[in-house]
Amino acid sequence: MKKVAVFISGGGSNMVALLEDMARAGHAAAPAVVLSNTAEAGGLQKAAAMGVATEVVDHRPFAGDRSAFEEAISRALVPHAPDIICLAGFMRKLTAGFTDAWAGRMLNVHPSLLPKYKGLHTHARALEAGDSVHGCTVHEVTAALDDGPILGQAEVPVLDGDTPETLADRVLVQEHTLYPAVLRRFAAGDRRPLMLKT
Ligand code: GAR
Repeated sequence: MKKVAVFISGGGSNMVALLEDMARAGHAAAPAVVLSNTAEAGGLQKAAAMGVATEVVDHRPFAGDRSAFEEAISRALVPHAPDIICLAGFMRKLTAGFTDAWAGRMLNVHPSLLPKYKGLHTHARALEAGDSVHGCTVHEVTAALDDGPILGQAEVPVLDGDTPETLADRVLVQEHTLYPAVLRRFAAGDRRPLMLKT
């Protein structure tokens, strides 16, 4: 059984979707810990309520020293001994030192059809571009932001009158389907891209 660490910064709805799926039959992975860079992340209480260990490594005392922050994360992970890290709304950039150490073992969910719209404000940018299809991506994490081999994508049609918020809500629903499905396959050794169309 693979052990999974889920990294969050906020509400953790993707984290909950991952934990719920790992609790279902036939999964090759189990949750080891949920780690947040802020004690205020609402997802921490949800993880605890689901019986999963939590860790907080506040990035602020490190004052921009990303390597020192990541060393603290690595220390916090030691007792949980994860095999896989799932970034799930973890809003801190990681250095090449950390991504290289976890190469092939760290996943991220991003709210766009990568390689389009890396970074922030993805829904507003898709609307501004007049895209008719938007969506989300799960990919392996490499040193470059929102890059790395694509493990799955789900398309979401853009509707007349969509705002960044309404579009984000519909993309998030698809993230909750895509990310658990990709992790389930990945944990079992299957890295073929999973492409979901609505
Ligand atoms: C999700 O939409 C995720 O794709 C996005 O943050 C949200 C977290 O929601 N991640 C990024 O933008 C990373 N660059 P959640 O905390 O409810 O899972």
